Amino acid sequence: MERRQRKNLMIIAPCLVAIGIMCVLVAYSPTLYRMFCAATGLAGTTQRVAADTAKISRQTITVAFDTNVAPGLPWRFVPDQGAVTVHLGEQKLVYFTAENLSSQPIVGHATFNVTPLRSGIYFNKIQCFCFTEERLDAHQKVHMPVVFYVDPKFGKDPDMRDIAQLTLGYTFFRSADPRNAKDLSRFLASNPPDPADGRDLFKEQCTACHALDANKYGPQLGGVFGRRAGTAAGYDYSPALRSAGLTWSADNLNRWLASPTKFIPGVKMPVSVPDPIARRDIVAYLRQETEQRGSGPKAKTARQGADY
Ligand code: HEC
Repeated sequence: MERRQRKNLMIIAPCLVAIGIMCVLVAYSPTLYRMFCAATGLAGTTQRVAADTAKISRQTITVAFDTNVAPGLPWRFVPDQGAVTVHLGEQKLVYFTAENLSSQPIVGHATFNVTPLRSGIYFNKIQCFCFTEERLDAHQKVHMPVVFYVDPKFGKDPDMRDIAQLTLGYTFFRSADPRNAKDLSRFLASNPPDPADGRDLFKEQCTACHALDANKYGPQLGGVFGRRAGTAAGYDYSPALRSAGLTWSADNLNRWLASPTKFIPGVKMPVSVPDPIARRDIVAYLRQETEQRGSGPKAKTARQGADY
C-alpha cells in the first residue's frame, strides 16, 4: 500500500512541478503567452470578443442631438431622429438633414461638441461631416450620416456616474474660406458611387487592420474585388470564411460590410459599416483599385483563386 502511494507520488510530483513551471512561464512571459495564444487560436477569439461582444456593454446611455445654425447662414439644419439609447460600445448610425434655403450655392462648416463636456473623451465618431467645408447647392437638401459609439470605459469612470444623457451638438457656420469645399451632395443616395470618397473612408475605417499589399490583423485587400473569399496567400482565416465559398462581388461586399458576422456566422472581423452610402463608396473604391491593378505586375497575385 505504502509502496503504491510512494510510486504514485513519484509520478505525480514531477508532473506537478512541470505544470508549475509551465504556469510560471505562461504567467510571467508575455511573449510565451502570445505564442501560446497563437498556437491555440486564443488570441483571435479574445480579440473578437473584445471588439465585438465583450466591448458592447449591457449598460446603456441616451444620446440626444442638438443643432444650431449661426446667423448669416440661410440653412435649415435638424437631426432626423430624437434621442437614441445605445449600449456602450455599440456603433450607431444617425442622420442630420441640412437644407439650403437660398437660391445660391453656399459653403458652410460645422463644429461639434459633446455635453457634459467632461464626457467628450468617451464619445467616438467613426464617420461624420465635422470641420470640412461643405457646399450645398441652391435649395439642395441632404441627409448626412454620423456613426458614433460611446466607449465602454465610460461605464467604469466614477466621474461619469451621475450622467444620464449625453448631447451631441452641431453648429453650422457660413464658411470664411469656401475654396476646396466638399460637396454635401456626396450624401445623396441618388448620386453615383464615389470611389474617391470610398478611398478616404477606407483609410479612416479599414487600415487599422487591412493594407492593400500585406496581411495585417486582417488579410490584404489589394485586388479583392472578384477574388474568392478566404484566399489571400499566407493569411490565417477563420474556418467560417475559408470555407464560405463565395466571390467578392459588389453585392457580397456590401452585405459583408453591413455585418460580417450576420452575413457569415463565425468570422472574425469585429467591425461593420452601418451607413449604406459609405458602404457603396468603399465598394466602388475596392472595385476601382482592383481594376487599376488589372494591368500592373501584381495582377497575377491579386487574381489568384478568382473566378473568371
Ligand atoms: C478591427 C480590425 C478590422 C477592421 C477595422 C476591418 N477589418 Fe476587414 N477583416 C478583419 C479580419 C480579422 C478579417 C478576416 C476574417 C476571418 O478570417 O474570419 C477581415 C476580412 C475582410 C474581408 C475578407 C477578405 C478575404 O480575403 O476574403 C474583407 C473584404 C474585409 N475584411 C473588408 C474590410 C473593409 C472594407 C474594412 C473597412 C470598412 C474592414 N475590412 C475593416 C479585420 C478588420
